Amino acid sequence: MKNLVSIFAGHDANISFYNATTNKYYTIEIERLVKKRYFRLHEDNTPAQQKDILEKCRDIAEKEWGIENDYECVLICSDGYIQTDPREIFNTQHVRTVARHHQTHAASVFHMSPFKEALIVSYDGGGDDGHFNIYSANQDGIIHVDKIESDFGGGYLLCGSLIREVAEKSRHQLALSGKLMGLCGYGNVIPEHVPAFEEFFFDRDYEKLANWTNLNLKNIDDPWKNALDNWAFEDQEGYDIAATAQEGFEDAFFSVLSKYDPDVPLILTGGCALNVLVNEKVKSAYKRPLYVPPNPHDGSLSLGHLFLYRQPTE
Ligand SMILES: [Fe+2]
Repeated sequence: MKNLVSIFAGHDANISFYNATTNKYYTIEIERLVKKRYFRLHEDNTPAQQKDILEKCRDIAEKEWGIENDYECVLICSDGYIQTDPREIFNTQHVRTVARHHQTHAASVFHMSPFKEALIVSYDGGGDDGHFNIYSANQDGIIHVDKIESDFGGGYLLCGSLIREVAEKSRHQLALSGKLMGLCGYGNVIPEHVPAFEEFFFDRDYEKLANWTNLNLKNIDDPWKNALDNWAFEDQEGYDIAATAQEGFEDAFFSVLSKYDPDVPLILTGGCALNVLVNEKVKSAYKRPLYVPPNPHDGSLSLGHLFLYRQPTE
């Protein structure tokens, strides 16, 4: 087995390396290299710029971790292609894609976890295999169990866009969700609106949310067009929307999780596993081991793809 390299070029772009000599794995989150939060390698850069950045990563791997430019293959994540030929950067004949978005989330987290078997929940704003997938994992492999039609990640992000303090402080729409979660502690849940928000995370029907709650929402026809322009609430009214959206998010999440009664440890991943409020509630509600990785967002996808290509050994 030669060295391996794996690239995810979507937002939170990242590249992982396997050193065949030392049997060690390494990941570079490219936003740290280029100093641009949520950096996308593909759509925001010319092929020449992509090549330049990947050459820098290749050289870091060689200089810092002793990984020679002699690779068995380059792995490219299925929903994060680049527009430059990786064989002009990495010394290899082979470019492969072996898995899809949530499969790689699941593989990344399972092999980082301390568990030999687990139920894995992967949920986010969407990849090329949906938004919410359940897996059963053990030492024989990771089996897909279920796919839930929903958009918890995108729905939560859009809830953040409703609040002035969140929208005006966010320079990128991916920043909305974290700020929304942070504001929840200042708000009071509006109980009569919770069911509408809960359903919104499944159907993402913004017009239905507006009609059901009678809230004066903006940009009904296309709230995604410029999410940072959607805000309609501020001060305590906004904080209460934050708390209510979070309550709906938690109810929606538990309505799915309650269908599974795993007698094995539980793992949460995907960008929505950054929601520490629901993670804490899961930990309290489920009296069995829980693991959430330090990088449940897309920053872990290239490593997951490597793990699927070559299962780690002790
Ligand atoms: Fe993801």
